[in-house]
Amino acid sequence: MSDPKMDKTRRNLLVATGAVSAVAGAAVAVPFAWSWWPSERAKAAGAPVEADISKLEPGELQVVEWQGKPVWILRRSKEMLEAIRRADDKVTDPSSKVPEQPEYAKNEYRSIKPEYLVLVGICSHLGCSPQQKTAEAKGEMGADWAGGFLCPCHGSKFDLAGRVYQGAPAPKNLEVPKHMYLSDGTILIGEDKKGA
Ligand code: FES
Repeated sequence: MSDPKMDKTRRNLLVATGAVSAVAGAAVAVPFAWSWWPSERAKAAGAPVEADISKLEPGELQVVEWQGKPVWILRRSKEMLEAIRRADDKVTDPSSKVPEQPEYAKNEYRSIKPEYLVLVGICSHLGCSPQQKTAEAKGEMGADWAGGFLCPCHGSKFDLAGRVYQGAPAPKNLEVPKHMYLSDGTILIGEDKKGA
């Protein structure tokens, strides 16, 4: 015959063991949760971001987020590229002397491939985000406006290569982030060589 007192002790022990198991289960879950942290933190700290540009039409702008900032990818048409050359004498730093771009984007179009412009969409004045103004906005931007960007905060204008127009409060061109092509239709933003 079993001792009722002993049974109670055993029951308590089982309950306690169950509680320990539950805690152990929670403890097992913690390393799993922690394993997610580095990638989330890395993302916030600037892990590279892939952009699919395969469906971008000439003249279209795509926006992706990198390091919490908007990054613009503009596919430029032949006319847009010609407009950049015509703006050389109207912009502050036509040949991108100020290092606001990686070396491989220090050229006439500030890009790896002339067709695609990649820019951080943050104004070099006080950090507002400029807006795209297409060539159709001539009424608002002036008769010789060929397209580009306007900062709504203090009116800085940028051309289709992100070069700031003379007389604007913004002191330098918009930043070209480091980037690379993974294929014709994919750009990696934030990294410019494998494993970098
Ligand atoms: S923040 Fe863009 S012009 Fe001032």
